Amino acid sequence: MNNAIKIDLKNILRFVPANALNSIQTEAVTALHTVDNATGAGNDFLGWVNLPAETTQNLLDDIKTSAARLTSKCEYVVCIGIGGSYLGAKAVIEALSNSFASYSKSESPHLLFAGQNIGEDYLYELQQLLKGKKFGIVVISKSGTTTEPAIAFRLLKEQLESQVGKKEAAKLIVAITDEHRGALRKLATEEGYTTFVIADNVGGRFSVLSPVGLLPIAVAGFDIDQLVAGARDMQTTTVADTDNIALTYASARNALYRAGKKIEILVNYNPKLHYLAEWWKQLYGESEGKDNKGIFPAAVDNSTDLHSMGQWIQEGERTIFETVISVMEQQNCVTIPADKDNLDGLNYLAGKRVDEVNKMAELGTSIAHVDGGVPSIRITLPQLSEYWLGQIIYFFEKACGISGYMLGVNPFNQPGVEAYKKNMFALLNKPGYEEESKAIQQKIK
Ligand code: PA5
Repeated sequence: MNNAIKIDLKNILRFVPANALNSIQTEAVTALHTVDNATGAGNDFLGWVNLPAETTQNLLDDIKTSAARLTSKCEYVVCIGIGGSYLGAKAVIEALSNSFASYSKSESPHLLFAGQNIGEDYLYELQQLLKGKKFGIVVISKSGTTTEPAIAFRLLKEQLESQVGKKEAAKLIVAITDEHRGALRKLATEEGYTTFVIADNVGGRFSVLSPVGLLPIAVAGFDIDQLVAGARDMQTTTVADTDNIALTYASARNALYRAGKKIEILVNYNPKLHYLAEWWKQLYGESEGKDNKGIFPAAVDNSTDLHSMGQWIQEGERTIFETVISVMEQQNCVTIPADKDNLDGLNYLAGKRVDEVNKMAELGTSIAHVDGGVPSIRITLPQLSEYWLGQIIYFFEKACGISGYMLGVNPFNQPGVEAYKKNMFALLNKPGYEEESKAIQQKIK
């Protein structure tokens, strides 16, 4: 088995000016030092940099104990959270889960998600599903005041208390939030919930390797020791000034951006990676899209999307580049059978593994894209396992910090996400928003 995550830039070379990658590498090293020495904007949010190394076995064991308590008592565990308090756990769990787990009977509880939308039907259907069922809640909110998870929590807490009583409900709820501040911390203290802390200096989108991601992942039955071990190993290798894949990726995407490639499409050929791409989109979108700058992060799931977005990518406006994540080894083996009649004409594939066909779809597509004017970065991941996911998560985080500084923005704030909240609160007449309410009513007259 390949034993490292690798990055291949040969298919971008014809799209960037000669030597651009070499010269930009110096900038990347400066940006790396800015991250590692905490000398840049947003340096009070760099807790994620040393998080894998600083995560103690005691914390991991406490998380596993809480997960085991929930799994032993519940048929369903609902994780409530949004954005950085949702996507990382969802990404890892989807990547590691059997694709049809929700359709099969299982000894362990089904993990469900809520608070990541304000869909009334979604919440109604969830409430119906949980009626009379043994369920538990992991509620995750760093600020403790985010509207979407707060609504979901209010509804499900009330349902749980009415089903099992307030005292028993308190034993089935775990809260992950700020150590001291916020409505959720206050509530958790008053109700006596088990809690885990999101450190002040770890921003939401960089928090998957904290209890925010680790507890849901442990509840889903996956090995958080291995996840953190992978991240630790990547942490060690991404401090170097040379042979550092985080530097290479950050350099390549900034060189392409400067060459007019304003959109990056993260491409996978494995349906289990759909949510890793969703997590990546938040990580890069919130970190870089500001000050009227930033590569727009998009994603496709191939080969599915070759039959929808494929046309645009091949022949649309030439402002895109792609980053393909290729998983080298599959967990299972499926071979295409021969058929004596061969009416479908597929006998030329008989005896081949499905993954061989998938890999040729990947290679053929990349060649077509490069020929069509789309630079193609390729990242190879040895396997979908906890260890390699820990590595790739940390890799993307580190590259994101470096890339944001190369772009000249503060990669660790997100001032833009407040705009919609202000309008929503004004429209809903939230106390404290009286002036905004008046102003917005004028706009919608
Ligand atoms: O990355 C971020 O900061 C955001 O996506 C947050 O994670 C998201 O808004 C949820 O915030 P909170 O955890 O405070 O409820």
